[in-house]
Amino acid sequence: MRLTALSATAAALLSPSAASAISAPRDLQIKPRAAPDAPSGGYAPSNVTCPSNSPTIRGASALSSEESDWRKTREETTRAELKTFLDKIGIADFDAGSYLERDNAWPRIAISLSGGGYRALLNGAGFIKAADSRTGGDKGIGGLLQSTTYLSGLSGGSWLVGSIYANNFSTITQLQENDAVWQFQDTIFSGPSSSSKSIGALDTAKYWKNIYDEVESKDDAGFETSLTDYWGRAVTYQLIGDDDGGAAYTVSSIADADHFKNGNAPFPIIVADGRNPNELIISLNSTVFEFNPFEMGSWDPTLFGFVPLEYLGSNFDKGSISKDGKCVRGFDQFSFILGTSSSLFNMAMLTEFPDEVPSLIVDKVESLLSSIDDANNDIAQYRPNPFLGYNSEISNIADEEELSLVDGGMDLQNIPLHPVIQPAREVDVIFAVDSSADTNNWPNGTALRATYDRAGTDIANGTEFPSIPDQNTFINLKLNAGPTFFGCDASNFTNSEKPPPLIVYVPNAPYTFMSNVSTFDPSYEIEERDSIIQNGFNGATQGEGSLDDKWSTCVACAVLSRSFHRTGTEPPQACKDCFDKYCWDGSINDAEVQSYLPDFRLEEDNAGSSLRLGGAWWTLVVAGATWSVFAI
Ligand SMILES: *[C@@H]1O[C@H](CO)[C@@H](O)[C@H](O)[C@H]1NC(C)=O
Ligand SMILES: *[C@@H]1O[C@H](CO)[C@@H](O)[C@H](O)[C@H]1NC(C)=O
Ligand SMILES: *[C@@H]1O[C@H](CO)[C@@H](O)[C@H](O)[C@H]1NC(C)=O
Ligand SMILES: *[C@@H]1O[C@H](CO)[C@@H](O)[C@H](O)[C@H]1NC(C)=O
Ligand SMILES: *[C@@H]1O[C@H](CO)[C@@H](O)[C@H](O)[C@H]1NC(C)=O
Ligand SMILES: *[C@@H]1O[C@H](CO)[C@@H](O)[C@H](O)[C@H]1NC(C)=O
Ligand SMILES: *[C@@H]1O[C@H](CO)[C@@H](O)[C@H](O)[C@H]1NC(C)=O
Repeated sequence: MRLTALSATAAALLSPSAASAISAPRDLQIKPRAAPDAPSGGYAPSNVTCPSNSPTIRGASALSSEESDWRKTREETTRAELKTFLDKIGIADFDAGSYLERDNAWPRIAISLSGGGYRALLNGAGFIKAADSRTGGDKGIGGLLQSTTYLSGLSGGSWLVGSIYANNFSTITQLQENDAVWQFQDTIFSGPSSSSKSIGALDTAKYWKNIYDEVESKDDAGFETSLTDYWGRAVTYQLIGDDDGGAAYTVSSIADADHFKNGNAPFPIIVADGRNPNELIISLNSTVFEFNPFEMGSWDPTLFGFVPLEYLGSNFDKGSISKDGKCVRGFDQFSFILGTSSSLFNMAMLTEFPDEVPSLIVDKVESLLSSIDDANNDIAQYRPNPFLGYNSEISNIADEEELSLVDGGMDLQNIPLHPVIQPAREVDVIFAVDSSADTNNWPNGTALRATYDRAGTDIANGTEFPSIPDQNTFINLKLNAGPTFFGCDASNFTNSEKPPPLIVYVPNAPYTFMSNVSTFDPSYEIEERDSIIQNGFNGATQGEGSLDDKWSTCVACAVLSRSFHRTGTEPPQACKDCFDKYCWDGSINDAEVQSYLPDFRLEEDNAGSSLRLGGAWWTLVVAGATWSVFAI
């Protein structure tokens, strides 16, 4: 890291009068969407009077009543949309309308978007664009998103989920066309300087000064701050199309957004892992946390509880707030939660800052770094720990003053499947979009395998998962070269009455573009950004059917697979053909792989590749335990 001399601009910015001008109160306009509803109007959480029905921690034995109620509303939409989707696709010799009238026939769908930095955001965006009836075109799988109940994201995948919901459930096309967001040619180090006209060009010094002031305001309000606050603020500047990158936007405000409340969007879920300082976690012992519009917490037996998200930051003890205690609101900032889910990138703060970055920032980051050791600078601090004293007989954090969370991919479960394999959620099929960097920055099944290894152990607490082969088999049998279904045979499970969901694995692969860009590549020209999105779209639609004109039929069959089992219905021949083609049949070829260098499956798109930006790769200077995580 370079310590820079105080530039003239930075010096001007740091004078008291300039500082107060910057932190002047903003015009707080509540818009009908995920909203800047932090009561402070900025990044700082605030003390508020508790509602008469004081918030409490609840046990994880069932869905929250809010989620159950919301699902009833959402179901009206998903059922109508699924009917339209199946009619559009038209499975041969099958009458979807009359089939769905049978008892228990309606399926429940989830989409899970893996981590992997901007690569994961962009590849995931290609899938969402294809699945969205507003942008998916006629031949593909448009309408799947409208039929979906749950949409989970982790790390880079959480940036995508967050960006969609913070911007009024906008389409990927709108996000691509709106120059206030997704300007990834500007790195987070320089800030939204050159192209983000709509939110006003900020020079680099002013951008960092804003971030500094925002994080200080949280500090001044009496809360711990860490590298995650800086990282989260910086990354969110590119994701939320509002002044100052949406510093006051909270995840709990999604619950009040029209698109969500009226059941017109899926239930978003963001995943992070629990990791105490100096601990190492693997899939077999991590406590997996989720954030959804109503709650945050874990289904795992090492916690088994949820806190109302809106009141995160309040002082809970043994599950409740003391009678004279205050409630806190505005702690669940999008910035902080997306920063938590992607805290691996805290390391990005170790890279060289551009010269324009005020030395104030550089000093601050340095002092944060020196106050903790290298193995722990990816931790996001949640203090007070809402689960203090809660479930103390089973919880491994009941005694901690601080809840420490890290990047959701840190336990190698880089696809956020955990929330959607919970039996309480009754999901039938998960579209698992994998943008992990395993072999030459392509996925090799490691993420699925990590979730499979965990299933059946004590920490999985009764969740099952389809059988997943080793990574050599993935490559040798080309299970990662295109879509593969896992767990097709619903009777091949211990609990065959209620089998776990079918997994439709959608791995990142080269269709029209070498989308295996490095996780730590911080900048992308617009053309390259769009080429990666288009490659993901081609994977999701199999080249709009050019690789398999029955692909959308097969997606529909995957959606109905568990339903057929439940209703005891023989699948139509068209579906049997799909299952023959796409289901992993249990065979293994674990001969050691020599190399995996997949080639284009469709004609190469040259627009993006000619524009690769050179240099400026995030340098990783941190060694130690956390670096088992290159797959993210
Ligand atoms: C959000 O999107 C909906 C549907 O496209 C639109 O009707 C509404 O005006 C938008 N709201 C805002 C604040 O942009
Ligand atoms: C909120 O309350 C806590 C303790 O109840 C106090 O320490 C803190 O200073 C208060 N914060 C603000 C911004 O008033
Ligand atoms: C998780 O398992 C790993 C590998 O066995 C071990 O090193 C680590 O200490 C365990 N962590 C916890 C929190 O139990
Ligand atoms: C999951 O763990 C909790 C907490 O230990 C326990 O009460 C519950 O019975 C477990 N559920 C299953 C299905 O094992
Ligand atoms: C699969 O990826 C992991 C990293 O996630 C790597 O350690 C392993 O060597 C890869 N396996 C093969 C067969 O390429
Ligand atoms: C069926 O279950 C067995 C036992 O769990 C497993 O080894 C096998 O791979 C499964 N078959 C398929 C096709 O998933
Ligand atoms: C991407 O994959 C191709 C082969 O499929 C390989 O030649 C290239 O080196 C990989 N790029 C990166 C950045 O890993």
